[in-house]
Amino acid sequence: MKRIVILISGRGSNMEALLKAKLPCEVAAVISNKADATGLEIARARGVHTAVVSHKDFASRDDFDAALAKEIDRHRPDLVVLAGFMRILTADFVNHYAGRLINIHPSLLPAYTGVNTHERALQDGVKIHGCTIHFVTADLDHGPIIIQAAVPVHQGDTPQTLSARVLREEHRVFPQAVRWICNGNVRLNAQGRVETDRMEQSGTTLISPGLE
Ligand code: GRF
Repeated sequence: MKRIVILISGRGSNMEALLKAKLPCEVAAVISNKADATGLEIARARGVHTAVVSHKDFASRDDFDAALAKEIDRHRPDLVVLAGFMRILTADFVNHYAGRLINIHPSLLPAYTGVNTHERALQDGVKIHGCTIHFVTADLDHGPIIIQAAVPVHQGDTPQTLSARVLREEHRVFPQAVRWICNGNVRLNAQGRVETDRMEQSGTTLISPGLE
């Protein structure tokens, strides 16, 4: 069975969705850069091994990333999953995990890379927003896309209401992406593009606001 390591920095609701999803892989460890991440409690309660590698204990990003990689590699993961891990990773780190490092981002990439995605989407008045699961490359939030979910932006939305609507979808598409990768149905090819065994596309058009 494939082994995955999940990295978190906070609440850990996406990590919890992965733990609940009965994936065809073993969650070998959940690692946080913050000792007080509430997600660590959730993982421990489910009997998952946890560890903390605090970025504050290291003088440079390189040193932190090297220590983090050492802790991750102890668990011999086939896949490393960034589930709300709020540190920018060095190119060395990313290259070390090429093709086996994925991230969840709360926007329809390539729109709204970086932080405060919901606030910025509302500011721009977009009518459709969402989330993306992608392979991580050294180009921040620009790695090859595995799956996206789109949601309507409603009149009167706040960053909180919009974020809640997107989060519900994050919890659905993230386990799907991990399941595909663990089953070997999705991979990164030598050209750096996502290859999938699944040829059929399902789903319906999202028009927002809806037509009358
Ligand atoms: C999620 O919105 C994720 O997309 C972003 O950070 C948030 C983490 O939430 N990268 P949680 O810790 O998984 O609850």
